[in-house]
Amino acid sequence: MKKVELSTEVFVYEDLNELQDIEIKLLEKAQEALSKAYAPYSEFLVGSAVLLDNGEILNGANQENAAYSTCICAERTVLSAAASLYPNIKPIMISVVIKNLNKEQSKPAAPCGECRQYLFEIENRYQSEIPILMKAQSDKVYKVASASQLLPLAFAKSDLL
Ligand code: THU
Repeated sequence: MKKVELSTEVFVYEDLNELQDIEIKLLEKAQEALSKAYAPYSEFLVGSAVLLDNGEILNGANQENAAYSTCICAERTVLSAAASLYPNIKPIMISVVIKNLNKEQSKPAAPCGECRQYLFEIENRYQSEIPILMKAQSDKVYKVASASQLLPLAFAKSDLL
Protein backbone atom coordinates (compact mmCIF):
# COMPACT_ATOMS: atom_id res chain seq x y z
CA MET A 1 0.00 0.00 0.00
CA LYS A 2 1.15 3.50 -0.61
CA LYS A 3 -0.47 6.79 0.09
CA VAL A 4 -0.81 9.27 -2.77
CA GLU A 5 -1.50 12.88 -1.94
CA LEU A 6 -3.14 15.17 -4.45
CA SER A 7 -2.87 18.89 -3.87
CA THR A 8 -4.63 21.95 -5.21
CA GLU A 9 -3.01 25.31 -5.87
CA VAL A 10 -5.25 28.34 -5.37
CA PHE A 11 -3.96 31.86 -6.05
CA VAL A 12 -5.65 34.41 -3.80
CA TYR A 13 -5.66 38.04 -4.90
CA GLU A 14 -6.78 40.85 -2.59
CA ASP A 15 -6.30 43.60 -5.15
CA LEU A 16 -7.62 43.62 -8.72
CA ASN A 17 -4.48 45.48 -9.83
CA GLU A 18 -2.56 42.24 -9.43
CA LEU A 19 -4.56 40.72 -12.28
CA GLN A 20 -3.96 40.98 -16.02
CA ASP A 21 -6.23 43.28 -18.04
CA ILE A 22 -7.92 40.35 -19.78
CA GLU A 23 -8.63 38.72 -16.41
CA ILE A 24 -10.26 41.91 -15.11
CA LYS A 25 -12.29 42.17 -18.32
CA LEU A 26 -13.46 38.58 -17.96
CA LEU A 27 -14.53 39.22 -14.37
CA GLU A 28 -16.41 42.34 -15.47
CA LYS A 29 -18.25 40.30 -18.10
CA ALA A 30 -19.25 37.75 -15.47
CA GLN A 31 -20.41 40.56 -13.18
CA GLU A 32 -22.49 41.98 -16.07
CA ALA A 33 -24.06 38.56 -16.57
CA LEU A 34 -25.54 38.65 -13.05
CA SER A 35 -28.36 40.67 -14.62
CA LYS A 36 -29.19 37.63 -16.78
CA ALA A 37 -29.55 35.28 -13.82
CA TYR A 38 -32.93 33.67 -13.28
CA ALA A 39 -32.74 32.63 -9.65
CA PRO A 40 -36.14 33.19 -8.00
CA TYR A 41 -35.68 30.15 -5.72
CA SER A 42 -32.17 30.46 -4.33
CA GLU A 43 -31.81 34.23 -4.82
CA PHE A 44 -28.16 33.38 -5.42
CA LEU A 45 -26.99 34.99 -8.65
CA VAL A 46 -24.09 33.53 -10.59
CA GLY A 47 -22.56 35.08 -13.70
CA SER A 48 -19.91 33.47 -15.82
CA ALA A 49 -17.85 34.59 -18.80
CA VAL A 50 -15.67 32.57 -21.12
CA LEU A 51 -12.85 33.85 -23.31
CA LEU A 52 -12.52 31.94 -26.57
CA ASP A 53 -9.43 31.46 -28.70
CA ASN A 54 -10.88 33.81 -31.33
CA GLY A 55 -10.91 36.65 -28.77
CA GLU A 56 -14.66 36.57 -28.29
CA ILE A 57 -16.08 36.68 -24.76
CA LEU A 58 -19.45 35.04 -24.07
CA ASN A 59 -21.30 35.37 -20.81
CA GLY A 60 -24.29 33.77 -19.14
CA ALA A 61 -25.92 33.17 -15.78
CA ASN A 62 -27.66 30.52 -13.70
CA GLN A 63 -31.13 29.50 -14.89
CA GLU A 64 -33.35 27.97 -12.22
CA ASN A 65 -36.50 25.90 -12.46
CA ALA A 66 -39.41 25.03 -10.16
CA ALA A 67 -38.26 21.45 -10.62
CA TYR A 68 -34.99 22.13 -8.81
CA SER A 69 -32.92 19.39 -10.42
CA THR A 70 -33.47 21.12 -13.76
CA CYS A 71 -31.51 24.22 -12.68
CA ILE A 72 -28.51 25.01 -14.83
CA CYS A 73 -25.43 26.65 -13.36
CA ALA A 74 -23.91 29.74 -14.94
CA GLU A 75 -20.72 27.93 -15.94
CA ARG A 76 -22.55 25.20 -17.85
CA THR A 77 -24.93 27.73 -19.40
CA VAL A 78 -22.07 29.70 -20.92
CA LEU A 79 -19.83 26.74 -21.78
CA SER A 80 -22.61 24.92 -23.61
CA ALA A 81 -23.48 28.13 -25.48
CA ALA A 82 -19.81 28.48 -26.48
CA ALA A 83 -19.58 24.86 -27.64
CA SER A 84 -22.82 25.22 -29.62
CA LEU A 85 -21.90 28.50 -31.30
CA TYR A 86 -18.20 27.77 -31.81
CA PRO A 87 -17.61 24.00 -31.59
CA ASN A 88 -14.16 24.31 -33.15
CA ILE A 89 -12.84 27.15 -31.04
CA LYS A 90 -11.31 26.35 -27.72
CA PRO A 91 -12.15 28.17 -24.50
CA ILE A 92 -9.09 29.89 -23.03
CA MET A 93 -10.25 31.07 -19.60
CA ILE A 94 -13.44 31.28 -17.55
CA SER A 95 -14.64 33.57 -14.77
CA VAL A 96 -17.39 33.07 -12.19
CA VAL A 97 -18.90 35.87 -10.11
CA ILE A 98 -21.49 35.38 -7.36
CA LYS A 99 -23.97 37.67 -5.65
CA ASN A 100 -26.11 36.42 -2.81
CA LEU A 101 -29.22 38.59 -2.59
CA ASN A 102 -29.73 37.63 1.07
CA LYS A 103 -26.29 38.22 2.48
CA GLU A 104 -23.13 40.17 1.73
CA GLN A 105 -20.52 37.77 0.63
CA SER A 106 -16.88 38.64 0.10
CA LYS A 107 -15.54 35.11 -0.35
CA PRO A 108 -15.58 33.82 -3.94
CA ALA A 109 -17.43 30.56 -4.60
CA ALA A 110 -15.87 27.72 -6.58
CA PRO A 111 -17.77 25.86 -9.33
CA CYS A 112 -19.98 23.00 -8.09
CA GLY A 113 -18.99 19.38 -8.66
CA GLU A 114 -21.07 19.01 -11.80
CA CYS A 115 -19.52 22.13 -13.32
CA ARG A 116 -16.04 20.89 -12.42
CA GLN A 117 -16.76 17.68 -14.31
CA TYR A 118 -18.15 19.66 -17.26
CA LEU A 119 -15.11 21.93 -17.34
CA PHE A 120 -12.78 18.96 -17.09
CA GLU A 121 -14.43 17.37 -20.14
CA ILE A 122 -13.95 20.59 -22.11
CA GLU A 123 -10.29 20.72 -21.18
CA ASN A 124 -9.93 17.20 -22.50
CA ARG A 125 -12.01 17.89 -25.60
CA TYR A 126 -9.89 20.89 -26.62
CA GLN A 127 -6.66 19.54 -25.12
CA SER A 128 -6.12 22.76 -23.27
CA GLU A 129 -6.23 23.78 -19.61
CA ILE A 130 -8.78 26.43 -18.63
CA PRO A 131 -7.81 28.78 -15.80
CA ILE A 132 -10.79 29.63 -13.57
CA LEU A 133 -11.24 33.02 -11.93
CA MET A 134 -13.68 33.31 -9.00
CA LYS A 135 -15.04 36.42 -7.35
CA ALA A 136 -17.89 37.55 -5.11
CA GLN A 137 -18.86 41.19 -4.46
CA SER A 138 -15.50 42.28 -3.02
CA ASP A 139 -12.08 42.66 -4.64
CA LYS A 140 -10.95 39.23 -3.44
CA VAL A 141 -10.29 36.88 -6.36
CA TYR A 142 -9.38 33.20 -6.39
CA LYS A 143 -7.68 31.67 -9.39
CA VAL A 144 -6.84 28.08 -10.23
CA ALA A 145 -4.87 27.05 -13.29
CA SER A 146 -7.26 24.39 -14.54
CA ALA A 147 -10.39 22.39 -13.82
CA SER A 148 -8.27 19.43 -12.79
CA GLN A 149 -6.96 21.49 -9.85
CA LEU A 150 -10.54 21.47 -8.57
CA LEU A 151 -11.26 17.89 -9.57
CA PRO A 152 -8.35 15.62 -8.70
CA LEU A 153 -8.66 11.97 -9.68
CA ALA A 154 -11.36 12.91 -12.19
CA PHE A 155 -13.40 10.47 -14.22
CA ALA A 156 -12.53 10.97 -17.88
CA LYS A 157 -13.12 9.67 -21.38
CA SER A 158 -9.92 7.65 -21.01
CA ASP A 159 -11.58 5.60 -18.25
CA LEU A 160 -14.12 4.35 -20.77
CA LEU A 161 -11.62 3.15 -23.36
N1 THU B 1 -24.77 27.75 -9.14
C1 THU B 1 -24.06 28.11 -10.25
O1 THU B 1 -24.58 28.78 -11.15
N2 THU B 1 -22.78 27.67 -10.34
C2 THU B 1 -22.16 26.92 -9.42
O2 THU B 1 -21.05 26.44 -9.65
C3 THU B 1 -22.79 26.67 -8.12
C4 THU B 1 -24.24 26.95 -8.05
C5 THU B 1 -26.16 28.18 -9.03
C6 THU B 1 -27.16 27.05 -9.12
C7 THU B 1 -28.35 27.65 -8.43
O3 THU B 1 -29.10 28.42 -9.36
C8 THU B 1 -27.74 28.60 -7.40
O4 THU B 1 -26.40 28.80 -7.80
C9 THU B 1 -27.77 28.07 -5.98
O5 THU B 1 -27.20 26.81 -5.90
